[in-house]
Amino acid sequence: MYDGDIASVLITEQQINDKVTELAKQIDDDYRDVHGDLLLVGVLKGAVMFMTDFARALPRPAQLEFMAVSSYGSSTSSSGVVRILKDLDRDIADRHVVIVEDIIDSGLTLSWLLKNLESRNPASLEVCTLLRKPDAVQVDVPVRYVGFDIPNEFVVGYGLDYAERYRDLPYIGTLDPKVYTSGI
Ligand code: XMP
Ligand code: MG
Repeated sequence: MYDGDIASVLITEQQINDKVTELAKQIDDDYRDVHGDLLLVGVLKGAVMFMTDFARALPRPAQLEFMAVSSYGSSTSSSGVVRILKDLDRDIADRHVVIVEDIIDSGLTLSWLLKNLESRNPASLEVCTLLRKPDAVQVDVPVRYVGFDIPNEFVVGYGLDYAERYRDLPYIGTLDPKVYTSGI
């Protein structure tokens, strides 16, 4: 699949599976005193694979909501100016909300999203991200659950894309530079 496009596998399918199980157990444990269904908010499209695997690994009931946002800026870096493409279908007031993200890079998108959701008065609001890049540390976003800290390289797979491709890979990998230059 995608012959020769992937320069290296950064995180294998097995490592992702193990981490999803670990995060789900941790969240199940941390929310043991919380009654009622958790509300997972997945950020489209990148978080879809993580969201569905995570929801199935979580040993307690959770409801699934999705939001789609677009940040103005180039395709590989964000500006922090965010536009809602698809909003939540439901009110999150008094709900225990966990934002499920694929990756935090600069942290600007998430920082905006946290403020936006916080203003809707959830009972609690936490973030669970599969990946985090080192630059994210520079922006003050409180992220309680992090799967993997990764190097500052552009990654694809398991929901993450380059020009809408590679989302369907079961692992996380880095792209061969030839892909950026060939023009798909
Ligand atoms: P910020 O910088 O606001 O950006 O934290 C987060 C969003 O940018 C996208 N992003 C990536 N997408 N590989 C991708 O496929 C990457 O390495 C990468 N880094 C950032 C992603 O949509 C994320 O939600
Ligand atoms: Mg994203």
